[in-house]
Amino acid sequence: MPPRVSNAEDVLAAMRKVRQARQFRNDPVPADLVHELLEVARWSGSSRNTQPWRFIVVTDKDQLKQLSEQRSSINWVADAAVAIAIALTDQPEPNRSYDEGRVTERVLIAAYLLGLGGGTAWYGGEEQEAWAKEILGVPKEMTCRSLIALGYVKTFNDARPNKNTPGRLALDEIVSYGTYQG
Ligand SMILES: Cc1cc2nc3c(=O)[nH]c(=O)nc-3n(C[C@H](O)[C@H](O)[C@H](O)COP(=O)(O)O)c2cc1C
Repeated sequence: MPPRVSNAEDVLAAMRKVRQARQFRNDPVPADLVHELLEVARWSGSSRNTQPWRFIVVTDKDQLKQLSEQRSSINWVADAAVAIAIALTDQPEPNRSYDEGRVTERVLIAAYLLGLGGGTAWYGGEEQEAWAKEILGVPKEMTCRSLIALGYVKTFNDARPNKNTPGRLALDEIVSYGTYQG
C-alpha cells in the first residue's frame, strides 16, 4: 500500500493550481532543482516502459531565443531560465505522444511544487522540428517537437494576443457515471 502523503491536501490543492506560465523573473533555476525535475522525469511511466525520452537541458540564452523564434505563440520561451527539451526514440503512435505528454505534465507539476513554473512549447510542423534538431544537436531519426520551459514565475498572465480562454469546464459538464451523458 502506498503511504498517504502527510500533506496530501496541500499537494492536491497545489496541483489544481498548476497553469501554463509564460512570464518569468530573471533569476536562474538552481542546478539541484533542475536535477530533481530530471529525476521526476526519469521515473515517469511510459508505454511498455520503453522510456522513449532523452532530455536536453538548455540554459544558454541564445539557444532559448532561437528555439522561441520558431512560432510566435512560443516566443515567451526566450525568457525562461531553463528548458528541458524532449527528444524521443522511434516509438509507434499514439504511445509516443502519450509518453511525451505524460512526462511533460509530471515535470510541470513537480516544478510548481518546487516553487517554479513553466509551460510546454511545441515547435510547430516538420520544418520547425528540423530546425529545433539543428539547434539542439538531435539526430534526424528522433522526434523532437516540444520542450518544457521553466523559471521563477513573474505572473501567470498570458500576454499573447491570441490567448486561450482561461478556466476549466465544470465537473458536471465532463463527468458522467455508468454511461456517457452528453
Ligand atoms: C500539443 C500542445 C501544444 C501547445 N502549444 C502551445 C503553444 O504553442 N504556446 C503556448 O503558450 N502554449 C501551448 N500549449 C499549452 C496550452 O496552451 C495550455 O496547456 C492550455 O492553454 C491550458 O493552460 P492553463 O493551464 O494555463 O489554463 C500547448 C499545449 C499542448 C498540449
